[in-house]
Amino acid sequence: MRKALSIAAVLLMTIAAVYFSSCTNETALQSNSNEDSIKQVVARGEYLANHVAGCMDCHSKRDFTKYAGPVIPGSEGGGGLLFGPKFGLPGMIYGKNITPDAATGIGAWTDDDILRAMTQGINKKGDTLFPIMPYPNFNRMAKTDLLSIIAYIRTLKPISNAVPARQIFVPIAAVYPGKFLQPTVDSNMAPPASDVVKYGGYLAMVADCGTCHSPLTPQGPDHTRMFAGGYIFDLGSNKVTSANITPDSTGIGNWSEERFMNKFITYRDSSQINRDPGNQNTIMPLSLYAGMKDEDLKAIYAYLRTVQPISNVVEKFPK
Ligand code: HEC
Ligand code: HEC
Repeated sequence: MRKALSIAAVLLMTIAAVYFSSCTNETALQSNSNEDSIKQVVARGEYLANHVAGCMDCHSKRDFTKYAGPVIPGSEGGGGLLFGPKFGLPGMIYGKNITPDAATGIGAWTDDDILRAMTQGINKKGDTLFPIMPYPNFNRMAKTDLLSIIAYIRTLKPISNAVPARQIFVPIAAVYPGKFLQPTVDSNMAPPASDVVKYGGYLAMVADCGTCHSPLTPQGPDHTRMFAGGYIFDLGSNKVTSANITPDSTGIGNWSEERFMNKFITYRDSSQINRDPGNQNTIMPLSLYAGMKDEDLKAIYAYLRTVQPISNVVEKFPK
């Protein structure tokens, strides 16, 4: 079945095609290469949205009777997940419907509308989004990666789901990180994957490992102590504190690359997810991160070895 294409995919395809033809002068090959490059764009978007950037984690429903709260099949992108006081937030904020449903999702949005929401935190209606949606990070993401995610979410199954309006207890202007945002993402590029530490830093930024892994203060996550852990989430079944992932001995300083990899790839085995976690569940989206490529996980590990070590002993499952 052919999937709908967004302007973003076509644009990237055109860039790829121009590049391709200028390299080879083989115009006859172009139509094949166009198809291939569209597929590649959507596949890159699918990979990032599902396994790195957390879109599908926050914009779907999750089943916390299972380990790490996997996405409930059929709810992908449909929204409705609550981010509220139990996660230390000043309000009730719901993951929005980002499927192509015209009435309740983003079916009627242009690619520019989606790009603006993703990178400036302003939605089609002109509302400012609460920065639990990691648009300050996506504001630094490579333009090609952003467009590939847009191309991918256009292929999601439309879900009719009207998400409740948020209620926040602080003025949105007080939490809008506008002064940290670049006005345009046009020149954003990803570091080359061969520059392993930098590329790992890029992936950690896109995945927003830093927000969950910062200590939570009344003003929000303390990004001056990024990766030191200490953010407490109340999952109902149990509380869980994010770990110290700096290279300190109280963090993951003594972790080998293999141990780090195992934290993620263990969950490629679905029986590790489909089990009753009892009162030791986690919010870290391990069912999604498990699909991260080995080399990308290794790059994140290499990057985390280079961040400032911070001494902070964390009790993972506080009473
Ligand atoms: C940590 C959770 C989280 C992640 C990760 C996340 N989002 Fe969001 N997103 C939200 C929440 C919550 C809102 C609603 C914010 C509000 O109402 O103020 C939102 C809003 C949006 C909106 C605006 C929709 C509307 O109707 O206003 C779009 C578009 C969007 N997100 C797309 C994405 C995409 C694409 C990704 C991945 C690249 C992504 N989000 C990753 C939590 C997240
Ligand atoms: C939604 C919040 C959230 C996000 C996003 C998140 N984590 Fe975590 N992480 C946690 C929590 C909570 C724990 C402690 C419970 C557990 O082990 O799962 C944890 C534990 C860990 C551990 C185990 C450390 C130890 O001492 O046992 C590692 C390693 C880790 N995270 C790395 C990462 C990396 C790398 C990223 C980004 C790719 C990331 N996390 C994103 C919440 C998060």
